[in-house]
Amino acid sequence: MKNIVILISGRGSNMEALIAARDAGNLPVNIAAVISNRPDARGLETAAKAGITAHYVDHKAFAGREAFDAALAECIDQFQPDLVVLAGFMRILSEGFVRHYEGHLMNIHPSLLPSFPGLHTHQRALEEGVRVHGCTVHFVTPTLDHGPVIIQAAVPVLDGDTEDDLAARILIQEHKIYPQAVRWFAEGKLTLTNGRVLLNQAQSKQAALIAPEVCQA
Ligand code: GRF
Repeated sequence: MKNIVILISGRGSNMEALIAARDAGNLPVNIAAVISNRPDARGLETAAKAGITAHYVDHKAFAGREAFDAALAECIDQFQPDLVVLAGFMRILSEGFVRHYEGHLMNIHPSLLPSFPGLHTHQRALEEGVRVHGCTVHFVTPTLDHGPVIIQAAVPVLDGDTEDDLAARILIQEHKIYPQAVRWFAEGKLTLTNGRVLLNQAQSKQAALIAPEVCQA
């Protein structure tokens, strides 16, 4: 079974979705550890309660990004992960760190990349007046919120939506697509070719999730 390490910075609801999928028998992985860059991340307590090793490496204790990233990698590598899963991990990672885990580092981002990389994605989507917004799971490259896309979910932006409305609608989809992406990785179904993720026909249909429950409402 593949070993994964999950990195968080706060609430950890995506981490919880991964734990729930594992517990339901839908995610054949060993969650070896959850690591936060913030000692007070709420998700650390949740992970510990679920019986998962929970650690923090406080970024504030390090002089610079490289020093922190090196300490973080040392902490991660003791668990010998096949995959490192960024689940609301709010740190820009150095190129050296990303290269160390190339092809073994996934992120979830609350927009349909390549639209709206960076912060405040829901506010920016509302400002731009887009009608479709969503979330993306991708392999990580040294460029922020960039890299081969694995799966995306789209939701409509409705008139009168607030940032919170959009965040809530998209979070529901995040909790579906992240376990799916990690499952495909665990099953060896993700092939990276020329900077793109290749899937088979059936999977590629599942990799474009158009939130049906919202569209029909
Ligand atoms: C999610 O919206 C994720 O896409 C973004 O940060 C948020 C983290 O939420 N990167 P949680 O900690 O998983 O609840």
